Amino acid sequence: MGDYDADVYDLVGIGFGPANLSLAVAVAEYNTGPGAQTPVTARFLERQESFGWHRGMLIPDARMQVCFLKDLATPRNPTSPFGFLSYLADRGRFADFLNRQTFFPTRLEFHDYLVWAADRVPVAVDYATTVTEVTDAGDQGGEPVLEVRAHHDSRPLTLRARNVVIATGLEPRLPDGVEPSERVWHSSELMPRVAKLLTGPAPRRFVVVGAGQSAAECVEYLHRTFDDAEVCAVFSRWGYSPADDSCFANRVFDPGAVDEYYQAPPEVRDQVRRVHHNTNYSAVDPDLIQALYERHYAERVAGRERLRFLKVSTVEEYTETEEAVQVRVRSGIDGTVATLDADALVYATGYRARDPARLLPGLTVARDEAGRPQVGRDYRLVVEGTAAGIYLQGATEHSHGLSSTLLSNAAIRAGEILDSVLARRAAPAPVPLGGR
Ligand code: FDA
Repeated sequence: MGDYDADVYDLVGIGFGPANLSLAVAVAEYNTGPGAQTPVTARFLERQESFGWHRGMLIPDARMQVCFLKDLATPRNPTSPFGFLSYLADRGRFADFLNRQTFFPTRLEFHDYLVWAADRVPVAVDYATTVTEVTDAGDQGGEPVLEVRAHHDSRPLTLRARNVVIATGLEPRLPDGVEPSERVWHSSELMPRVAKLLTGPAPRRFVVVGAGQSAAECVEYLHRTFDDAEVCAVFSRWGYSPADDSCFANRVFDPGAVDEYYQAPPEVRDQVRRVHHNTNYSAVDPDLIQALYERHYAERVAGRERLRFLKVSTVEEYTETEEAVQVRVRSGIDGTVATLDADALVYATGYRARDPARLLPGLTVARDEAGRPQVGRDYRLVVEGTAAGIYLQGATEHSHGLSSTLLSNAAIRAGEILDSVLARRAAPAPVPLGGR
């Protein structure tokens, strides 16, 4: 049956992106802190070969969309040795960073910080390990236990845990009927695809679909990298709209906003998400909008336009051949169709939440009226079929608000999940929800 770990962990984390890395940091700080009589035993399983945060979009010069102090630990513990400031000091760039006078590191630097933290945090992490399912393993020693099944390389691995924390991130979203291929990509694959193109004949044209941050970044990067290629941005809007990161709106990402949002009636939550959608979705950093506009204008002045914007337009269909992908773009304004022969069609059409139930065969995830998972304030999924703890990070925007998929509240959330695990460890064994 492959590797079987006989220990029962307090906590097994599924996925080791920033959310569960933040939790690992909280666990490590608890275990080495003064209050810890019994350490929390934890192990994290990550399918990537090594730590990586959206590597496919690590565009040189792209900036973070969040203040560097909203790192893995600082909002929970401002004196944490795993904070961004400790990283800067360790790398010998503290003063140099401050002299830049900005809250926003590049994504490359923040990635380096995350790798630095992942390498240092004293918890067990199994990379190249994909979790396939979590099932109820009954009571063991008077405690409800879960079994976590995974593949490490091609070998099966089974762990047991009193709590599981699912933090598997979002998955790339492509329009219905679109299949990724050599010439049709999701924006999440940008960097490896571009690296490959750089070794072949010079591309002539790209079509990029979407009007959000990733779309604008793809357009900018492709245009900058391939200086003979035309880049056609296709979107249903009139133009890119700025992301709202103004100070009052930004409060929607505050830790305290989670409490308020969580207790609000469902229709108010939905309204808040709608009204403040442009803090994170279908919106672009104003500096990038300005830079693209300037570049476009400079090309108009020079009389050679490589940067084209096909506004109020949609991709009607595309056909792939060996040499190109032929993209038919319909204008919503006059119904005309432009046929573009491109080297690649890039869908920067965002991401969607993964349903945690996919990992939980045999257990029933309770749902709200809209069919979304019910999640406690402590991020514990309401599940029938086990009394063990199954926590969810990320896919909780409907219940915990707009910071759920982001870094803004990761440190505080990690502390709250750990507190819940500790409180349940101290409490008598609970009665299973729905029984077994
Ligand atoms: P994340 O997706 O990072 O990690 C999940 C991990 O789980 C992955 O490593 C994956 O391999 C692993 N996994 C999945 N299924 C598994 C399985 N079955 N078994 C084992 N492992 C599994 N936010 C922000 O606040 N500020 C910002 O500047 C940005 N910038 C940004 C840029 C780009 C290009 C993107 C796509 C997103 C952002 N974000 C962001 C939002 C982003 O979601 C956020 O920064 C974190 O990545 C969320 O961390 P998670 O750990 O929840 O997911």
